[in-house]
Amino acid sequence: MNERDSEAVAAQLVAKGYSLAKSEATADVVLLNTCSVRDFAEQKAINKMQNIVGTARSEKRDQIVGFMGCMAQSRGKELMDKLPDVDLVLGTQKFHRAAEYLDELLNGTRKKIVDVEAEAKSEATIREHLLNGSAKTSVSAFVSIMQGCNQHCTFCIVPSTRGEERSRTIPDIVAECRELVSRGVKEITLLGQIVTSYGRHERRDERQVASDMAAASRITHHASQNSPFVQLLDAVHEIDGLERIRFTSPHPKGYGDDLVEAYARLPKLCESAHIPLQSGSDRILKAMHRGYTREKFLGIIQKLRRAKPEMGIYTDIIVGFPGETEDDFEQTLSLCREVQFDNAYIFKYSPRRDTPAAEMPGQVPQAIREERNERLLNLVNEIAARKYDAFIGRQVEILVEGPSKKNAARYTGRTRCNRIVLFDGSARHQGQLMDLKIERTGSFTLYGDPAILE
Ligand code: 5AD
Repeated sequence: MNERDSEAVAAQLVAKGYSLAKSEATADVVLLNTCSVRDFAEQKAINKMQNIVGTARSEKRDQIVGFMGCMAQSRGKELMDKLPDVDLVLGTQKFHRAAEYLDELLNGTRKKIVDVEAEAKSEATIREHLLNGSAKTSVSAFVSIMQGCNQHCTFCIVPSTRGEERSRTIPDIVAECRELVSRGVKEITLLGQIVTSYGRHERRDERQVASDMAAASRITHHASQNSPFVQLLDAVHEIDGLERIRFTSPHPKGYGDDLVEAYARLPKLCESAHIPLQSGSDRILKAMHRGYTREKFLGIIQKLRRAKPEMGIYTDIIVGFPGETEDDFEQTLSLCREVQFDNAYIFKYSPRRDTPAAEMPGQVPQAIREERNERLLNLVNEIAARKYDAFIGRQVEILVEGPSKKNAARYTGRTRCNRIVLFDGSARHQGQLMDLKIERTGSFTLYGDPAILE
């Protein structure tokens, strides 16, 4: 999501006549987009800013510097007090104001700007793309469909940095997707904090959404009973020339039968799901305010695999949440063994300001968080490696994104289940759907042979 927000700001600036600098050392303006989800991310952004302003000062360079995004939102002016060289602090609902504020700072009408106010309709402002930014982005693009989160998980700072859930309309999103496809995009990933809650709060406008939807596409007879998110998937699916649809992130509670059926019904919807688990212990899930149980989660995975046996299933897990005992942690391990995730992102619990979990008793010592992280990582990696090896000898369809960053002689693409595949390709493959035979695996990569195509 931050990558997408940064891209939209960069595109906005390019449209105003700015150009992308080769590095921060030669830039007139440096904006750091920030994440607040863990303390480590905030520290990283602050250190980076200290380096940037320190270097600019020692080289006597004039440079406008600013923070934007979640840390800007939650810390506001405090960031300027901490780092007096910072000129701009731009909140999460203000990305579209970046160009206007930079003009004011550059022409000297204002010296410092902090804007972290809420702004109605800001959810519809993340829409400009920089498709020529890199080869990859011309094939695959992210489209922001909503902002904010109403789930209020007790560990999470996002509801306070991103605000309440607000969704764009289906026609607005479809128009953006159509434009991307007309510019050569083949794959779209719909983005939001909890995409499965898309459109749920726009109740008053619900009838409007349904009629817009009917106008925007050939509506299927049962679609109006589906959740607004599935209605959106149907509408995007209608776009000619679009080959693949993905979304991230859903919430487990959003996997109703309508969404599971959508996988079986919509050929462009890729068999891949990033479904955040967070913990395998019912007691901890409850304390996290996640709204599902271990059994419910397992039921979702079963339903998905029944609909699409090839489904790639990825997850997020937090270890060391306050009160997590060895027994709770072992339930997370056992759930991972049961589900056999294709991969999992594991996070050590990090207390965040103004979140209920930060005040809970039973904070887990850092050494135990580290130890659990390591044990879970070993298990997840072992399962992931086995799943990678199972691809050897199989034929897969990939969408070719472009040359590999590490080795330009190799091309890279993704399977429908979202695994990266490298092969000996050339420019003519870019943007193509092609079948490959998987020959071998590397760390989180598959190596394919296009010979069957030639
Ligand atoms: N500590 C550790 N991990 C966190 N996440 C969110 N908040 C925290 C926190 N306070 C993780 C969750 C989420 C992912 C994006 O970040 O696993 O799914």
